[in-house]
Amino acid sequence: MRIGILTGGGDCPGLNAVIRAVVRRSSDRGHEVLGVRDGWKGLTDGVFMRLGRREVSGILPRGGTILGTTRTNPYKVAGGVEAVIENFGAQQLDALVVVGGEDTLGVAAQLHSEHALPVVGVPKTIDNDLSGTDYTFGFDTAVTIATEAIDRLHTTAESHNRVMVVEVMGRHTGWIAVMSGIAGGADVILIPEQPITVEDACRELVKRHEGGKDFSIVVVSEGYELTYESGEHRLVAGVARESDQFGHVVLGGVGDALGRDIEERTGFETRVTVLGHVQRGGSPTPRDRVLATRFGLKAADLADEASFGRMAALHGDKVVDIPLEEATRELKTVPAEWYDVARAFFG
Ligand code: F6P
Repeated sequence: MRIGILTGGGDCPGLNAVIRAVVRRSSDRGHEVLGVRDGWKGLTDGVFMRLGRREVSGILPRGGTILGTTRTNPYKVAGGVEAVIENFGAQQLDALVVVGGEDTLGVAAQLHSEHALPVVGVPKTIDNDLSGTDYTFGFDTAVTIATEAIDRLHTTAESHNRVMVVEVMGRHTGWIAVMSGIAGGADVILIPEQPITVEDACRELVKRHEGGKDFSIVVVSEGYELTYESGEHRLVAGVARESDQFGHVVLGGVGDALGRDIEERTGFETRVTVLGHVQRGGSPTPRDRVLATRFGLKAADLADEASFGRMAALHGDKVVDIPLEEATRELKTVPAEWYDVARAFFG
């Protein structure tokens, strides 16, 4: 067999571990693996690289993706879908492993259902917002980085009697905020799914300071809408960039706005830290390396068995496979029970 592999969307730690696992298992079976450069762009433009044992040697602990990635959507490029199908055939590929989040996998699902493209999916994203899998790889690393940042901010907050607002990624879900906030002992956590008001958040901080603590940590997810008792609510976002053919608004900035609000309303000196892409960079945690490796082996098995239109997924502690469109049907949001765990430590 000739198996292609591409990584699309925002990068995340663990992508290289998937590539390594697909190559190792497939070449052990005598299959050839062809890397597609820069996500769907490489398949649209016809840019490939050979992947053998030598090319994947030493990449397990490396962040990013040796294949490169873009947010190219062949359905938004004139002649894009036709070019994908033509290049796939020209390279004599028998299967394509697609490693991505909702956008990249959404394209894979569509190409499979509309053009019978033999695809297999692997779910990745630091945001952990894909349905059908308990966890995506990359998430544990992002939570680890955010937790370490919160730990560090604690000591400086305490020395200066300040409120520290930490803005984390997560797009329209609050997984990173809730998990790192619980792990780091945050005093208030604001997420899109449970938009407590700014007034409520300030009341928690005042209560805490009245109880004798004179510093606080507030974790806010980039997709939290500033929500007020008046009923006003506002998402802090910019328009989508041209390079993003899936048209996502650019999130970021809610931390600053919230910090200003907190300082004005409580009178407590407040500082803001935006973690940004630090959460996506660097080496994956052992947990992410293991999950990505298991997903990669599963994807190689699915390709070998010609089980197309399926995606590797984690259910409990088992790696299973599910229909690809299940993963992209809806966003996996933070359930109320998780937020209740966080809320037990507010104030
Ligand atoms: O989906 C992953 C993610 O890191 C989100 O958490 C964030 O909103 C977005 O990507 C940032 O995208 P970009 O890398 O294009 O700035």
